[in-house]
Amino acid sequence: VESNGSGRDLTLDILFELENNDPLQSEIAFPSVSQPDMQAALTRLASRAMLEYDPSESEHVVLTGEGRQIADEGSHEYKVWEAVKKSGRLSLKDPALATPSAKLGQGNAFKLKWVQKDGDSLVVCSGMDEVKDATRETLKYVDEFHTMPDPKQLKDYVKRKLVSTQKIITYQVRKGPRWAKEIPIEVTDLTSEMLEDGSWKTASFKDYNFNALGAQQNSGALHPLNKVREEFRKIFFNWDFIEMPTGRFVDTGFWNFDALFVPQQHPARDMQDTFYVSDPAEAGPPGSDPDADQALNTMEAQSQLFSTGEAAAAIPKLDYEQYYKNVRAVHQDGAFGSIGYRYPYTDSETTRLVLRTHTTAVSTYCLHRLAANPRPARYFSIDRVFRNETVDATHLAEFHQIEGVIADYGLTLGGLQAFLGKFFLQLGISNLRFKPAYNPYTEPSMEVFGFHEGLNKWVEIGNSGMFRPEMLLAMGLPEDLRVYGFGLSLERPTMIKYAVSNIRELLGHKVDLSFIESNAAVRLDKD
Ligand code: PHE
Repeated sequence: VESNGSGRDLTLDILFELENNDPLQSEIAFPSVSQPDMQAALTRLASRAMLEYDPSESEHVVLTGEGRQIADEGSHEYKVWEAVKKSGRLSLKDPALATPSAKLGQGNAFKLKWVQKDGDSLVVCSGMDEVKDATRETLKYVDEFHTMPDPKQLKDYVKRKLVSTQKIITYQVRKGPRWAKEIPIEVTDLTSEMLEDGSWKTASFKDYNFNALGAQQNSGALHPLNKVREEFRKIFFNWDFIEMPTGRFVDTGFWNFDALFVPQQHPARDMQDTFYVSDPAEAGPPGSDPDADQALNTMEAQSQLFSTGEAAAAIPKLDYEQYYKNVRAVHQDGAFGSIGYRYPYTDSETTRLVLRTHTTAVSTYCLHRLAANPRPARYFSIDRVFRNETVDATHLAEFHQIEGVIADYGLTLGGLQAFLGKFFLQLGISNLRFKPAYNPYTEPSMEVFGFHEGLNKWVEIGNSGMFRPEMLLAMGLPEDLRVYGFGLSLERPTMIKYAVSNIRELLGHKVDLSFIESNAAVRLDKD
């Protein structure tokens, strides 16, 4: 409610005034109402077409401090004349004449021939027993009407710093097409009561505002990472991949490291790179978690149905004990064609709990599950992994890995390259390069580089390789079944797609929620 300061609603005051004063001039009818208040009240009434108004910019003349003093007390020359008249004759040395304004007034009073010198005193000129203080009169007029009709005089007064000018917006206000003395009650809903008592006939209905923005819906929004993840899942599903059960962020050293032949003294196992869980610090040996087996069996049943078109064969009990022995043998003594690392294997390392550092831990138990029923299969996963890294613009202590695993007879490295070419083409990356790399679980291994058109340079986009025979044979997979795998981060393509240069804008506590809410549905551009 706009208030004019008297506590009454300004809109009502305007309507009341306009009744008999049409058109009215806002600054005259409401001199003490501020321009923003007036504007707000007029906007409100005009939106109901109760009145119309035109703003105009005009110049307002107002008194300065000195001008105000003169309007109240009289001009400097008047004060001098008054002092001389009162005393009959006033010594030039009188302290009343010593102030700067009195000196100014004295000069003016001479010019106006109000007073004159007589020896060393001032006396009133003859016939000047009454004088008219025109300056004061003019300033009083300005104070009342905020205008000065004579432009020359205005200029003079401004120069003398008695008045100044201000631009103000005033309004000419007229009755509008839906003029009324009071704001009518506007009805928003037609009720059964109104129909019954007939009041609908005279009621004033509020117009629909088709321009009003709808109320903000606090709906959920998908995170960009989730959207890009969905795109990748679709690509995998289109190619008959089965999703691996990645629900366990915490896994044992056995699956995360030992089964992948990361040596037990490997620096990656250090506290530096790996988050170890302290409570509980340890789990049982491989195969001791029935929930994990359950998840694997579900995936396996799905996968068999998919690859053979038949419901899964009876699920054999997995032999984790033999597998564990095989892995241990490869590390310590060499086996399955590998000469091994030949160091004393520590069993307690295998049961330590870690936040998994890669999803290849999951691929490993999926491949072990496959060994119970060996056949060509394609698995993928996209989920969280954790590395104890220094956090910066491109690294967080956790990220998402996209991982793919393909098992088939007679696979070759060229086949892996061809597959990766096809895969990255889906992301709009058509130009790949492979660089020999090292993973303890794949041989050969290749880093994958893609040419980024936007950045105009080669960027590392993934890691890949053919799983080593001693890894697959230790699981019980047949000799001629080969498996290749690859991994990449979900964050990197997402950052490129959404033009995010700092990963902390994408993930973590610094994420701006409005960015999450407003970003477009994802497109993996084909061009
Ligand atoms: N685990 C690898 C990584 O974290 C990716 C990878 C998966 C490499 C499978 C080869 C085979 O980078």
